Amino acid sequence: NYYAILMAGGVGSRFWPVSTQNFPKQFHDMLGTGDTLIQKTFQRLAKLIPEENIFILTNERYNDLVFEQLPGITKRQVVLEPAMRNTAPCILYASLKIQKENENAVMIVAPSDHWIEDEEAFSKNVQTAFDYCESNDALMTLGIKPTFPNTGYGYIEYDKSSDVDIKPVKQFREKPDYKTAKSFLAQGNFLWNAGIFMWSAKSVVDAFQRNQPELYQLFEHGYDKYNTDAEDDFIKNNYSKAENISVDYAIMEKSDNVFVIPATFDWNDLGTWGSLYDKLDKDTHENAVVNARVLAEDASGNMIRSNKDKIVVVDGLKDYIIVDKDEVLLIFPKAKEQDIKKVLQNIKANF
Ligand code: GDD
Ligand code: MG
Repeated sequence: NYYAILMAGGVGSRFWPVSTQNFPKQFHDMLGTGDTLIQKTFQRLAKLIPEENIFILTNERYNDLVFEQLPGITKRQVVLEPAMRNTAPCILYASLKIQKENENAVMIVAPSDHWIEDEEAFSKNVQTAFDYCESNDALMTLGIKPTFPNTGYGYIEYDKSSDVDIKPVKQFREKPDYKTAKSFLAQGNFLWNAGIFMWSAKSVVDAFQRNQPELYQLFEHGYDKYNTDAEDDFIKNNYSKAENISVDYAIMEKSDNVFVIPATFDWNDLGTWGSLYDKLDKDTHENAVVNARVLAEDASGNMIRSNKDKIVVVDGLKDYIIVDKDEVLLIFPKAKEQDIKKVLQNIKANF
């Protein structure tokens, strides 16, 4: 009864110029391991879930990339979105499809772009969640110990008095402002939401029905067509009517049956070049290098990526992102990495 929903529809614009709209980060070998991020995620999930029950949710423009990178996958497993509507609509749609196939399904919903080192610990946490969700109406999250008031994450307040592995959640708050995030950290009983969810198909569908009745009705309306030839037409005609909203705002913030398992594995949401730098092995000058042969003189703390076998000579640069990709060369201070998103807009306006 185990299923997985792998979300692979984001664009990853802060990893430009490697990640682009037509070829986003989850389809690149960002870590230089030989596998792309979506391949790594698929392999991680396949240790727990039958491969044929792993569904990929992505925009229809990435259809070819999915089949190229995950050979063996069938059309049934690839859920294509004709429009970008964030994570709530695609999760609800896929959950209804899975529920129609197997009403006792228990599933994990996972992003395709995370770095997780200890896969065994990850599997253990997920198994604990599955066992619980099989017999309880629960929306299960994995919580990461926060290290700074990051405003790009969701925060989970758990019950201080709870001494069990699975803790009832008092409050789920998506992307609080800086002041609020700081006060959360000070209180001590807040965790970051890892963005990985576990629940039964029934629990998640019920949560949508309760909290997002419009969205629920839109997709439930096609329920009789799911897993038939008529499905594609229904989705083509209706998907874009869905509200653009993430699962965090749509159901997690609004539900009172949320639980958290404090993660026992090291986790990183590979969102920026700097976060990637942190996770990669470094050379003697603390430079992280992917796909390049680097000669670094008086250069340290740099994130360097080029085309395989290219020789890159760096001198006198500290804490920079140096990325060479096809027609683009990016040399950018790591401290300003969040601005890469804006650079992209500038480029679109100027070239
Ligand atoms: N299929 C599909 N369709 N996938 C999507 C879409 C979409 O329209 N939009 C985003 N995704 C995928 C992204 O590729 C990513 O893997 C995942 O869904 C999460 O989306 P993000 O846009 O990266 O979310 P976030 O980082 O702002 O916030 C989420 O993750 C944080 C941890 O990384 C939230 O769950 C936060 O609460 C959490 O802390
Ligand atoms: Mg993210």
